[in-house]
Amino acid sequence: MRIGILTGGGDCPGLNAVIRAVTKSLIQQCGAEVVGIEDGFLGLIERRVRPLGWDDVSGILATGGTILGTSNTASPFAWRDRDVSDEVARYVHDGLGLHSLVVIGGDGTMTIAQHLASVGSLSVVGVPKTIDNDIEGTERSFGFDTAVATVTDALERVQTTGQSHGRVMVVETMGRYAGWIALEAGVAGAADVILLPEIGYDVEAIAALCRERSARRRSTLICVAEGAKPVGGELTVGQRVDDASDPVRLGGVAHVLRAQLQPLVGAEVRATVLGHVQRGGSPTAFDRVLATQYGHAAAGLVRQGVSGRMVALQGGRLCDVPLHEVAGRNRLVPPDHALLQCAREIGVSFGEPG
Ligand code: F6P
Repeated sequence: MRIGILTGGGDCPGLNAVIRAVTKSLIQQCGAEVVGIEDGFLGLIERRVRPLGWDDVSGILATGGTILGTSNTASPFAWRDRDVSDEVARYVHDGLGLHSLVVIGGDGTMTIAQHLASVGSLSVVGVPKTIDNDIEGTERSFGFDTAVATVTDALERVQTTGQSHGRVMVVETMGRYAGWIALEAGVAGAADVILLPEIGYDVEAIAALCRERSARRRSTLICVAEGAKPVGGELTVGQRVDDASDPVRLGGVAHVLRAQLQPLVGAEVRATVLGHVQRGGSPTAFDRVLATQYGHAAAGLVRQGVSGRMVALQGGRLCDVPLHEVAGRNRLVPPDHALLQCAREIGVSFGEPG
């Protein structure tokens, strides 16, 4: 049995832990031959693969990034304005002789994987990866816990300098169109204000809170998700989010907010955009364990000959869900999420109009 593994989309901590677990499980459980595809689907299009043996995946559990490389632009369905999916499917089947492909990625990668499975006779199993935690069908993607830990640490650091100067500190997180990172890290990092894509914010309401805190000689810590929008622009659960339909590239909202708040508050305002710091480095213990369990579970599905499914976590239990229920969707923070309610009841503001 010959199995391929690829990592697609943006990288995140824990990718190597999954590659290691899939490879070791398959070698140990059924003596499978494992090959790694380089740079995601680009490696399938350009025919760049390499064998993955036991030693190739030893010592990589705690390493950030992906030993296989990744790309988030290459799709066999739209490669330089051509659909090369038939050629790719033929290469995978006849050229590589693959029995199954384990695809580790986010919603975009899962969408391509699902289509690819329908073109040829290839079995495809998905593993949910993203720091954003916005993949439909699973309550956790690996990488998220590490990003939350990184942002929490940053918030604490920003808070001490903010307190020293009595400033309003705005910290921007990643998360794309979902507010999971900002919400969890904001709570963990004791933010006074958390701004999410799912809850429209009102600049005057935030400014009023900053003024009131400044009057009590308190600094204000604002944790803003990169996709946060003013009232009227918020996203709703179930809304399909398409990158191409949003002409405004994500990132930079902290600077916009800083400029808007500065004339309205009595204190100095400073902005920090955390950016790709959130995607790098070694995974937390939680992510190492989750990634290992996901990789092991994916190998199990491959051995059973299952196709078109993604391993997932639901109610704290490992399971698997159909790829077609995952593809093209985003999991947003629901308005009745328990952590929102909890945060509100301990005085955190979500910047809503007064
Ligand atoms: O989806 C992961 C993510 O890090 C988002 O949080 C962010 O918006 C995006 O990727 C950044 O992508 P890139 O690395 O292409 O700038």
